[in-house]
Amino acid sequence: MPWSNNPAVSDDAVIGEERKLATVLFADLVGSTALASGEDPERVRFRLERFYEGMADEVQGAGGTVEKFAGDAVLAVFGAPAALEDHAERALHAALAMQRRLGELFRGELALRVGVNTGEVVVGRAREGSSFVSGDAVNVAARLEQSAGAGEILVGERTVSAVRGAFELAEPQTVEAKGKPEGIAARRLVRALTLQRPRGVSGLHPAFVGRERELAQLQGAYRQVIGRRRPLLVTIVGDAGLGKTRLVRELWQWLAVEEPQPLQRTGRCLPYGQIAFWAFGEILKEQLGILDGDSPQSVLARLGDREILGLALGLDVAGNLHPLTARDRFQDAWVSLFEELTANRPAAVLVEDLHWAEDPLLDLLEHLLEGVHGPLLVLVTARPELLDSRPGFGGLRGETLVLEPLKAEATEELLSRLLGTDPPGLLGDVVAQAEGNPFFMEEVLGSLIDQGLLEHRNGGWAMKELPSGFLVPDTVQAVVAARIDLLAPAEKEALQAASVIGRIFWSGPVYELCPETEPNLRLLEERDFIRLRLGSSIEGEREYAIKHAVTREVAYTSIPRARRAHLHAAFASWVERFGGGRDEHAPLLAHHYTEACRPEDADLAWAGAEDEFEGLRLRAVAWLRRAAELALGRYEIDEGLEYLNRALQLETNDLGRSELWRRIGRANTLKYDGEAFWTAMLNSLEECSDRAESAQTYSELAFHTATRAAMWKRRPDPELVHGWIERALELSDPGTFPRARALIARSWYDPAVFANAAREASALAERLGDPELRSWALAARSRSSYATGAYGDAADWSRRRLELLPEIGDPDQVAFVYFYALDPPIAIGRFDEARRIAAAHEEVTRDLTVHHRLHGVACLLIVESAAGCWERIRDLHTAAERAVAANVATPCIYNPWSLLACALAEELLECPTRRAGSSRTRKPWEWKGTTSCSIRCASISPLRVATSTTSSGGSQRSRHPPAPATSKSSSHGWMRLPRSDGEISWRQRQQPCSSRVRTWSRSYYAPSASCGRIQN
Ligand SMILES: Nc1ncnc2c1ncn2[C@@H]1O[C@H](COP(=O)(O)OP(=O)(O)O)[C@@H](O)[C@H]1O
Ligand SMILES: [Mg+2]
Repeated sequence: MPWSNNPAVSDDAVIGEERKLATVLFADLVGSTALASGEDPERVRFRLERFYEGMADEVQGAGGTVEKFAGDAVLAVFGAPAALEDHAERALHAALAMQRRLGELFRGELALRVGVNTGEVVVGRAREGSSFVSGDAVNVAARLEQSAGAGEILVGERTVSAVRGAFELAEPQTVEAKGKPEGIAARRLVRALTLQRPRGVSGLHPAFVGRERELAQLQGAYRQVIGRRRPLLVTIVGDAGLGKTRLVRELWQWLAVEEPQPLQRTGRCLPYGQIAFWAFGEILKEQLGILDGDSPQSVLARLGDREILGLALGLDVAGNLHPLTARDRFQDAWVSLFEELTANRPAAVLVEDLHWAEDPLLDLLEHLLEGVHGPLLVLVTARPELLDSRPGFGGLRGETLVLEPLKAEATEELLSRLLGTDPPGLLGDVVAQAEGNPFFMEEVLGSLIDQGLLEHRNGGWAMKELPSGFLVPDTVQAVVAARIDLLAPAEKEALQAASVIGRIFWSGPVYELCPETEPNLRLLEERDFIRLRLGSSIEGEREYAIKHAVTREVAYTSIPRARRAHLHAAFASWVERFGGGRDEHAPLLAHHYTEACRPEDADLAWAGAEDEFEGLRLRAVAWLRRAAELALGRYEIDEGLEYLNRALQLETNDLGRSELWRRIGRANTLKYDGEAFWTAMLNSLEECSDRAESAQTYSELAFHTATRAAMWKRRPDPELVHGWIERALELSDPGTFPRARALIARSWYDPAVFANAAREASALAERLGDPELRSWALAARSRSSYATGAYGDAADWSRRRLELLPEIGDPDQVAFVYFYALDPPIAIGRFDEARRIAAAHEEVTRDLTVHHRLHGVACLLIVESAAGCWERIRDLHTAAERAVAANVATPCIYNPWSLLACALAEELLECPTRRAGSSRTRKPWEWKGTTSCSIRCASISPLRVATSTTSSGGSQRSRHPPAPATSKSSSHGWMRLPRSDGEISWRQRQQPCSSRVRTWSRSYYAPSASCGRIQN
């Protein structure tokens, strides 16, 4: 039989139900009543049978499956039950062929209308009378068919983008459909342009990268052929899209300018619907200048005494010859043709995509290599499947060139060259998903452009925000799915199970997840789907990796949601049993339990098994919370927040939800995200009806608001904060943590007024014994002493707090202890003590967030500016700039403050090249804080520094008018401000207490207050 319909794939490729990307074709006879009216029923039946047969023939010829005939309608599917990499193209070729066939059958009496559409379908076992594919794609195809005119083929947009370049289609139109308010976008199919879709993305610059070695190998093979005057075969092997054809195209260009110029001929094997020797037919046509429309007589005339070669063109030239005799003559004729062709000059012949060829063609190739005595280079391209089906192909006459994915640098270069400019940020990451396969890469780019996510603008490219998740274009998905479907059912099921486990997986759970089959993982290794890894992160288990992320994604999406859920649950339970529920498995367990009980799929997966679902849900929440706790402990705050947010989606209990919101709020304090903290805490309160819990939340809300002043872009109104403090005190029971925290917040917010709150908090904290709480209470005491000018006392309380450090484990808390211990020694002029504290603080902050790190540098600057050591500040300049640049998203007062201090140091030390105007972080800072520190920073921005430095001769000119204070005084006058901090603090100590209180009250950081004073 001359037609090959993907012989390697059987219906067994479907394990139970499966999700597939497929193209659905609906066809219906127009005027079929005319077919029946007035006719004898037997004749009607006869004609209908011919119609059915003709249509089925065309569908199957293109590799499709007839789903059903109903009346005079046909439903066919391409890409199901077994995936086809070119399902969309096949469907359109079939549609055209069906139209042609109908014309032939009924000589124009009847017309066909056809609708074609691509989409996700579920393939199941057929039930009697019903079809085995289902999904919206089927309904849409039916709707398109109903809207098509007689003889028309209407094609949905998803099909259109999958076949781009291979067909001519009319302008887009919109078809109305029930349940689709926007209608369905479709186009009328005009004609086929080529049998295979051209590759590449139109509008991008052509490029060729990273195959220098391979090209050199092919050039070497050609020189060898010339030197030895013998044929040589080079088999270029590589997965679809790795660049086999492209590589040969480069060689072809090189050959075209060689002396003597070789004869170059090309033939392709097609995936379906081909004549066995199609590739050689193409070579023959090219050689003899035969055109598609030529009559058999004229073709025979050109063949001359090599008439038997006509077999390659599908001509019946064998006559009564015995088939084996015909084969021998056919092969000999080819040898003689090539002998003749290579007599005077070398020849290079390319046969493309040999994995689709049948045995007779492979035999012919081998015969040529043996029989021809002349300089003939035979190149063939093939996917690795060829070596499975014909391991010894080429024998001694050949060499094999295996194409590997492009290296990362080559991929990057290709991307820049395709775009003609540097790629926009993040695009590199998206394209990296193609893992060095240039076809996948082009398809990803093409699909981004099609979706309007990547746009050519003003000579560059701009990218919009991408939808989250993996981006697999339909065309890539089809290629990968088709490869997976070549696997036997057991191995395919194993690959799917592995894809549920993850890109890295272990053999034990795969066997457990496929209880009814005995998959051979080695086979998956041989087919290059997976790789055994050295060592294993789970003792006693072989560890594997799925080679390509795209494979995992495609295998995973082919599993129906219901089965996915069960597989996730089974794997989670395996991990828990096997690993004993250890913390290190928390993220894994959290992920798999969560996926097992996704609320949106619960109806599919767990209908009738509500108890099981409930058990999974509880485990998911528990492991998400644990994973969050561990992540937050490592300062992976965003990761921790993600776990908590997912837990929130699954938690149904009010108290549980309130508690989760509180955890989310707390985590946001570590990020210094005041708005998120506040919102989460209010949500927690809203979900909560328990008094003690509410007291806890209010107390945390008040406490963090007071102690983490830097987390607010816009600080909450003091009245509001006082309200929270009062609520916390009102709701909390005496002697409890929430009460102690509320008291600390109260004294923190108004340290000079609420000294007794600090005292009460401290006594309570000592009773409760918790080191962190005791530490905060001591800080509150130090702060209230400081606020009333009792610096010696403040230093004593602070020292007691430092003594508690060995008992405090949380590095964020340790950082706080040092941070708040700085002011008292500075105030009493003990700069060395302050330096030690600042150094210890800086060290702790190194492993924390960018904001902590900025505080680390800022504290060093604070001490040195108070001490007036400008050289030391200058030495910190680069570190400070870096820390500010990293922390620019946090509304921290120390961002501008640090830059200002550095700028002043440069100015005072007369280093004009490094003034603040040259700072990388030139951002107009805006502060709406309440502390005097903020006021100071707001009034002296780095931009002003730029202004005043230029007024003394620099080239930088700021658009901002100088502040009155600045313009009146000399630039050096106000720039001495930070230095005066130290002086002022000395002087302050000599002043009577009452006057100090006025200026220092509400001070967040003492030197800032002094600044405010000088400005006045
Ligand atoms: N080395 C390369 N440099 C740039 N583009 C390439 C390279 N190799 C392949 N491509 C592009 O990737 C796409 C797929 O390549 P192709 O040669 O058709 O793959 P294959 O024949 O292996 O299936 C084509 O558009 C091709 O131009
Ligand atoms: Mg190719």
